Amino acid sequence: MRGTSIATFAGTGFLLAGCNTHQSTLAPFGADAADIRHLFIIMLIGAVVIAGGVALLMRHAVRAPEGAIDHRGGMRIILWLGGVIPTIVLFGLLVYSLPYMKPRPVSPVDLSIAVDGEQFWWRVAYRPTGGAPVASANEIRIPTGRTVAFRLSAGDVVHSFWIPGLAGKMDMIPGRTNTLVVRAEKPGRYRGQCAEFCGLSHALMAFDVIAMPPAAFDAWLANEARPAGTGGDATGARLFAANGCGGCHSVAGVTAPSRTSGIGPDLTHFGARRTLAAGILPMTPANVAGFIRHPEKTKPGVRMPSFPQLSDEEAMALARYLQGLS
Ligand code: CUA
Repeated sequence: MRGTSIATFAGTGFLLAGCNTHQSTLAPFGADAADIRHLFIIMLIGAVVIAGGVALLMRHAVRAPEGAIDHRGGMRIILWLGGVIPTIVLFGLLVYSLPYMKPRPVSPVDLSIAVDGEQFWWRVAYRPTGGAPVASANEIRIPTGRTVAFRLSAGDVVHSFWIPGLAGKMDMIPGRTNTLVVRAEKPGRYRGQCAEFCGLSHALMAFDVIAMPPAAFDAWLANEARPAGTGGDATGARLFAANGCGGCHSVAGVTAPSRTSGIGPDLTHFGARRTLAAGILPMTPANVAGFIRHPEKTKPGVRMPSFPQLSDEEAMALARYLQGLS
């Protein structure tokens, strides 16, 4: 019976470990996350050895005849197992892990990406060396094999920037810029998540991370820097203007910059993004149309007003227009 439950427990562990490589510290695609996984495994082995030792000791204590250990013996056990050995283990772990805490050096040619946490989405600005900043939102693309410096801040409350497969967490604090330097090693599509409670839709504040080979990334960024095209639907374009969408959302080459145009996510190349509503819904016309009419159904506490007055056809025309912006 005991053997069966141990086997079940171990089996479940292996199944869980294998089920998510999309957002997992144990499936790193960056050097820092690989360090974190290494430390995790070392600590796990240590914890299993210590827990096993304690279990053996308990078995011994339960089976030993009464009075087998006198008061002095008991105090010695407490001194060694409760004081000396934990101190040695923790000190050893500290010495072993200190080199991993050294920040990665940034060379001046590296790409800098500013990310601001908002309720409940991500404001993104690529700042290539020698080039103009490129605005985006809710999706972050990075080149593999190059160091990237994330400049992290927040527009409203404290958020936390976390891409489990790439690096550890970093707080995003209004009025302050924290820097997180990373390097992706493996191309692929991964997921990041806000890791600090920030309001009603904290759990619905995610983003896609796409690590690309450097040449593909450079081509993508060059396209991202271009103004938007005409979009996918002329009626939708008219509705976008008539409903004042450009009052909060900027679309480079379409909307005029204003005091409020940065309130919502930039939509210049909206159609090229893989997900909608900060990593929550697949990017389909029906989802976009539904979100425009009732954003609060997907994201409680969202700042975007709802547009229930739009008919199904109008919402779909807007969705087609936006998805044509790529
Ligand atoms: Cu943003 Cu939690």
